[in-house]
Amino acid sequence: MHRQPVSATDSHFSHKPSQKKRVYAMDDSAYTLDGLDHKHHLHAFTHLSEFEKQRSLVIERGEGIFLIDTDGRRYLDAMSSLWCATLGYSESRLVEAARKQLAALPYSHTFRGRSHAKLIQLAHKLVTISPAQLTRVFFASSGSEANESAIKMAWTYHKFNGNPKKRKIISRLNGYHGSTIFATRLTGMPQMHEFMNTEFPEIIHVEAPGFSSMAANGESEVEFSARLARELEALVLLHGADSIAAFITEPVMGVGGVIVPPETYFEKVQEVLQRYDILLIVDEVVCGFGRTGNMFGSTTFGLKPDLLTVAKGISSAYFPISGVLVTERIYEALLQASAQKGVFSHGFTYSGHPVGAAIALETLTILEERNIIEHVRRVAQIFQAQVRALAEFDVVGNVRGVGLMAGFDLLFDDDHTAAAAATELMDIAERNLVFVRAVGKTIVLAPPLIITESEIDDLMNRLRRSIKELVASFCG
Ligand SMILES: Cc1ncc(COP(=O)(O)O)c(C=O)c1O
Repeated sequence: MHRQPVSATDSHFSHKPSQKKRVYAMDDSAYTLDGLDHKHHLHAFTHLSEFEKQRSLVIERGEGIFLIDTDGRRYLDAMSSLWCATLGYSESRLVEAARKQLAALPYSHTFRGRSHAKLIQLAHKLVTISPAQLTRVFFASSGSEANESAIKMAWTYHKFNGNPKKRKIISRLNGYHGSTIFATRLTGMPQMHEFMNTEFPEIIHVEAPGFSSMAANGESEVEFSARLARELEALVLLHGADSIAAFITEPVMGVGGVIVPPETYFEKVQEVLQRYDILLIVDEVVCGFGRTGNMFGSTTFGLKPDLLTVAKGISSAYFPISGVLVTERIYEALLQASAQKGVFSHGFTYSGHPVGAAIALETLTILEERNIIEHVRRVAQIFQAQVRALAEFDVVGNVRGVGLMAGFDLLFDDDHTAAAAATELMDIAERNLVFVRAVGKTIVLAPPLIITESEIDDLMNRLRRSIKELVASFCG
């Protein structure tokens, strides 16, 4: 068994195809898809030096919650790819929405007040279904762009409210907010900063609320939350509240290992933010549109965002589209800025792309018409119960989750071995035709929202078989 040591963070940044299954021979296949992929494609979040020795996993098509590769292997996708393909891979209504929009108006921009019908309807729909205080939507293409847009608006807000020095952003360790320069810095994952040398003075990282791993002996969830809120307040005072613009948070930390906020955490954090006029940016890129059993994670966890960012599930990933929803208070500041300085100097070529807008609108319509959120609530009970039952394996612990997202840790003597085991389990699972994701020592699951009860059984059978194989190889 190949058991190359990996660092605790390696695994969640690399797609590491099984070394056993696909031994790559460049000479034989220089002109195959695999060969060309290796020759010309610089892959995102991939362990480049290991990938040199492996074959590409070339996905050809999708059916429901399954992905099929060029060798005909049919994988159950327990990660909705990157938490995003919420309606699975063969939703004909989304294909038709795209086709119609492409035929009618494949592109138009949104600068200088230009608009188009689907986008106007989408903005209206988003405001209707989002927390009540959010009234306007700015559009972009990716989660990273949405988060960076939110930061710029937060800065503008404070500047035009007479506090130009309020610029620092509080973010959480292991939070993930994207991969563009500032979004990378917001992201609290040391590996990304070490790799890319991204350091900015504007970011302050605070602890994530990982109750199961960080609570002191005998500390209750409520006490733990109170302690984190006190630490947050101390940090605000240390830096000076007049230097801090915003706090950015995911409702449930996704990429960071499905960290579900402990009881009263957000209630107490929001009290601190309000006391010091610090804006709350809620990153709903993963949690938005049903993942936690409500339309937004903000509803599930009682968050009252000043700015809320969306991407991924807004279009079930059929088109890259994202957005920032803001309150009237933020909009008023932008309006004031514009009255003084002219044009709102921010936007992208693809802000509000018509095809993305049409697909997103259809996605939201499908969510409603098919009662997908009700469906999530119902199957989540089965899903969460089955994930929790994995704790019967000695190597599985700290099982947690909400809605259709869950995580569990692999328990080994040290974190390094646990992380290596998690990567190994991800590889074994792939051989057993189920996609899961390793994040350090944690395995995360976030299947498409359309998953059925019998598909959950199927997923868990494949995963259980994989855990048994892991145990046999690691502990046998
Ligand atoms: C919570 C969260 N925010 C932002 C992003 C970045 O989104 P994108 O990759 O579209 O820039 C991600 C991506 O995984 C995410 O999980």
